[in-house]
Amino acid sequence: MTERFTVSFLPSNRRVLAERGDNLLRLAMGADVHINASCGGSGTCGKCRVVIEEGAVEERPHKHLGAAERQQGYVLACHSTVVSDVTVRVPLESQIGDRRVLDREAAAPAVGTTLAAHDWEARLPHWNLDPPAQKVFISPEPPSLADAAPDADRLRRELARVTGESSVELSFRALKELPSVARAQDWQVTCGVLAPSDRLEIVTVEPGDTSQQQYALAVDLGTTTVSVALLDLRTGETVSQSSDYNSQVSYGEDVISRIIFASKAEGLAKLQKAAVATIDGLIQDLLSKTGVSASMISHVSLAGNTTMTHLFLGIEPRYIRLDPYTPASTHFPWVEARELGLGLPEGVKLHCAPGVASYVGGDITAGVLASGLFNAEHLTLFIDVGTNAEMVIGNADWMLACACSAGPAFEGGGVQYGMRATSGAIEQVRINPDTLEPMILTIGNRRPLGICGSGLIDLLSELFLNGAVDKRGKFNQGLPTARVRQGERGGEYVLVWAEHTAIKRDIVFTEVDIDNLLRAKGAIYAAAELLVQSVDLNLADVEEILIAGSFGRYLRADKAVALGLLPDVPYERIKFVGNSSLLGAKLMALSRDMLQRADEIVGKLTYVELSVHPSYMDHYVSALFLPHTNLDAFPTVRERLQALGPRTPRPAGSQ
Ligand code: FES
Repeated sequence: MTERFTVSFLPSNRRVLAERGDNLLRLAMGADVHINASCGGSGTCGKCRVVIEEGAVEERPHKHLGAAERQQGYVLACHSTVVSDVTVRVPLESQIGDRRVLDREAAAPAVGTTLAAHDWEARLPHWNLDPPAQKVFISPEPPSLADAAPDADRLRRELARVTGESSVELSFRALKELPSVARAQDWQVTCGVLAPSDRLEIVTVEPGDTSQQQYALAVDLGTTTVSVALLDLRTGETVSQSSDYNSQVSYGEDVISRIIFASKAEGLAKLQKAAVATIDGLIQDLLSKTGVSASMISHVSLAGNTTMTHLFLGIEPRYIRLDPYTPASTHFPWVEARELGLGLPEGVKLHCAPGVASYVGGDITAGVLASGLFNAEHLTLFIDVGTNAEMVIGNADWMLACACSAGPAFEGGGVQYGMRATSGAIEQVRINPDTLEPMILTIGNRRPLGICGSGLIDLLSELFLNGAVDKRGKFNQGLPTARVRQGERGGEYVLVWAEHTAIKRDIVFTEVDIDNLLRAKGAIYAAAELLVQSVDLNLADVEEILIAGSFGRYLRADKAVALGLLPDVPYERIKFVGNSSLLGAKLMALSRDMLQRADEIVGKLTYVELSVHPSYMDHYVSALFLPHTNLDAFPTVRERLQALGPRTPRPAGSQ
């Protein structure tokens, strides 16, 4: 069982629950306790000193503290992990600013309402373990003179009796193997059956009982990232899962550039092979990690956007990007995994989640399934943020979907020091309202390399809410900090000085970067606003906002609202679903009912084409400001700005 401890921070008196091994700096960041942290937690700046007053922490070695300081209880927060209840004092020199900073944060609305992705599995819609493909052991009577029915009839008859299915068919391959397989162990036979609906097909036959251990694979085929989960079909549990970058990335960052590449000679074949290689690598990794053999895999359930699904299946995608944007199909037949190039045995079938349109694909269907939106009684908005943002609004009675091009800014593209959410990326930022000094955390507590999406959102909202950036996204001049300066691309903020980075250059955030972020958030907000208004409702009427995708992992509701990326609704209505595409693929792998629900979702979803909507551009232009031209729609942001008053920061280091 996981051990839980209480960590109390002084002087702010903030308390958080922690698990053994949780990083102290990360806990402080989550609790809005400010500690100087200039190097992302890599241990190079030596600024995150705290004093352990009660309890103990485990500290990794570093060279920043002398014996005298250690005796006084000093540790580096970024190098310390929790091993007991602990009381931590943040000394004045490690606080950003002074008590007034803490008071101001304490007065800010509570945000501890976000739902961690790993909690979402507990909220999945009700489902029964009834996989669409599985192994069934049968032992029909051996033939005799009294009953000399053909082998196939004998097998079908017994399987129909055991499963209760009336219609049982036999594949050609299973038929060819049946005579010898059936007699190898005296008519003890395991049938690999595929029964996505009420028709059952025997796809493989094996001698003896091999049904005791059986597994399925669920795949989220993302444009950037691919995740694969190994599922135990007897329990429905996830045995293990693993992720990697889609190796198609080397042929183009986004779906449009991949479609263009696919039209070149051998382009489609290269992209198909690249996707297969990534998925196959993850499968082999999972199998070797768990000791599960490939022969125990029954089937594969895959969810991906429409372009990814086309490319993976080797289907011509070019018309997806040409007016009137038609995919070859939004529904795909079950296919042999081996035929696609996956290293799985013959007879293992693969299913791709159905989509709705060229830009609302199977990943969104899977997300709507896993998020429970299709069952919801209340008005729910589901948003999957990536280069393309897809969204669905509705409830159990109706659903509308749309897609918009947000650009790559939230994935670090088009931002000078933007990067994907990998090791060394700055993923969380807080800025001291008084000194404009930052507190940053990097993925893996490494020396900073750049800033990923959640870090960019944190950074821009903190700069805006602390008066360093105005509503047009321009830096206020004359601020008494060396961090705001004129750079080659106009105004910029130095987030990390070169000495603390892994790239030996200042990591800066420029006005050009801000423009790109404003365009991305403007596109998403405008699409959501228009979608809701198309059914005569307002964003304020939305009772639950579900954010899908890894993007939302460290996204905080208050920061996203401050930017005008999300509407100003009570924060508890905003929840993060995590990788809902993978969760949906899992559900479809485990339950025939869920598979059918996915088809029903597609039948119910109405697609709205925003690119031709006459007022989309007006909504977009209005959303290009922080948080929006209509400040009345953002009352909590207005309050926070009013509370800030005129911007009068003091130089860093002054008390
Ligand atoms: Fe801990 Fe820099 S040494 S954040």
